[in-house]
Order: sequence, then structure tokens, then C-alpha cells
Amino acid sequence: MQARSRTIWALLGLGLLLLAVQEFSWHAMWRGLYGLGGDAATQGRLVGTATSDLAIFGHMLAGGVVTILAVVQWAGPLRRRWPRLHRISGRILAPLALLTALGGLIYIALRGTIGGPVMSVGFAFYGLLMALAAVQTIRNALARDYHRHRRWGLRLIVLALGSWIYRLHYGLWFGITCSMGEATCRLGSRADFSGLFDQIQVFAFYLPYLLVLEWWPVRKSSD
Ligand code: HEM
Repeated sequence: MQARSRTIWALLGLGLLLLAVQEFSWHAMWRGLYGLGGDAATQGRLVGTATSDLAIFGHMLAGGVVTILAVVQWAGPLRRRWPRLHRISGRILAPLALLTALGGLIYIALRGTIGGPVMSVGFAFYGLLMALAAVQTIRNALARDYHRHRRWGLRLIVLALGSWIYRLHYGLWFGITCSMGEATCRLGSRADFSGLFDQIQVFAFYLPYLLVLEWWPVRKSSD
């Protein structure tokens, strides 16, 4: 009975998380798809050479799928009940995460980012970590080292949700600062992403969460 109610709560949490990420996920997929099709309104200032277009819009399309699949992979009850679903979605997630990261990295190398060097470094590091986590997750699964596979898989899930968390941080910050008045509205954030908040954000959407993940099992095992 206890296990059953745990499963119900976990599935409820999963449903809420899916609901929360789906809007961003569709946005990324459609923008990627239309961008690849040459739609000028969708491409906006990101448009560049054929190679950088393919990299950035391909990365959005792949990233949109990755965001949804990360939630599916994370869901323990789904994994236990339908292990086949876990395997199939994992086989799609990891290679697409690698493509997402490579697309972003190629774009940064060719065109930089709107926020300049600090943002480029923060996002490039994010991309390198995602590529590493994707490769390690696949490598350890193939080697049947399931302990390491799980650890890297969790890191990959955190990173895969990072892009959505980045937008979530902005939404929360703008919501809080703007509700306090006009003088504080969007404090530390500028249109060219050069504000203090913007510069902290380029690392804060993934590094703290990865650190918590590293610390978590240590704490649990010493309980
Ligand atoms: C699941 C993961 C990801 C998704 C869903 C995603 C989605 C997007 C979307 C939709 C945009 C366009 C901006 C917008 O419409 O909001 C974008 C821009 C960008 N992304 Fe990603 N992304 C992901 C991961 C990454 C990674 C790993 C990197 C780093 C290599 C990266 C680098 C960039 C860069 C450099 C831009 C352009 C920034 C600028 O405006 O100058 N993204 N991404």
C-alpha cells in the first residue's frame, strides 16, 4: 500500500513536471524545425551561415525532444514498470543530447553568443558537460556497468533539463523583482545579457544542481 501510494505521488509529480516543461519543449522543437526550413521570422538574429544555421536550429529541434525524454527517463515508476520504454527512450535521449550539445558548441565557436565571452564560456562548459554525460551514459550501458551508467544518466538528465531551468530562473526572478516595483523590475538583467544576474545565470542553471547530485548519495549513505 505504501509502495502504491509512493508510485501514485511519483506519477503525479511526473505529470506536473511534464506539464511544466512541455511548452518550452514545443517552442524549441518548432523554432528548430522552422529555422531549419529557412523561416526568417523564426531565425531572427540567430541566422548566419548554412553551417551555423544547421548547428543552432538542429540543436533546438534535438534539444526539445531531449527535454521531454529527460523527464520520462527520470521517472522511477515508469522505469520499473516498463523497463523497455526506459531502454528505448534512453537510446534516443543520449545520442540526441550529444547532437544538442555539439550543435550548440559549433554555433558558439562560429558566432559566439548574445551575452559575449562570459555567456559563451558558461554555455560552452554546459555543452561540454552534456556531451561528456551523453557519451559516458552510453559507454557504461554498453559495458554493462549499470552503477556508473545510472550515475552518468542522472547527470545527463539534470543537464538536459538545464536549458528549461535557465528560463525558469528568469521567469521567477522577473516575477519576484517586478512584483516589488518598477525600480527593482528585472534587476541585474539587461537586454544584451550583460547584467550581474545574467552573468551569474550562465553557470547557475546547471552547476549548483550537478553539485547537489554529487553530494546527494554521500549524504544518503552516511544517514
Ligand atoms: C535540452 C537542451 C537544450 C534546449 C532545449 C535548447 C534550446 C534552445 C533554444 C530554443 C534556443 C533559442 C533561444 C530561445 O528561443 O529561447 C537556444 C539557443 C542557444 N543555445 Fe540551446 N538548448 C539546449 C541546450 C544547449 C546546450 C547544451 C548548449 C551549449 C553547447 C546550448 C547553446 C545555445 C546557444 C549558444 C544559443 C544561442 C544563444 C544566443 O542567443 O546567442 N544549448 N537553445
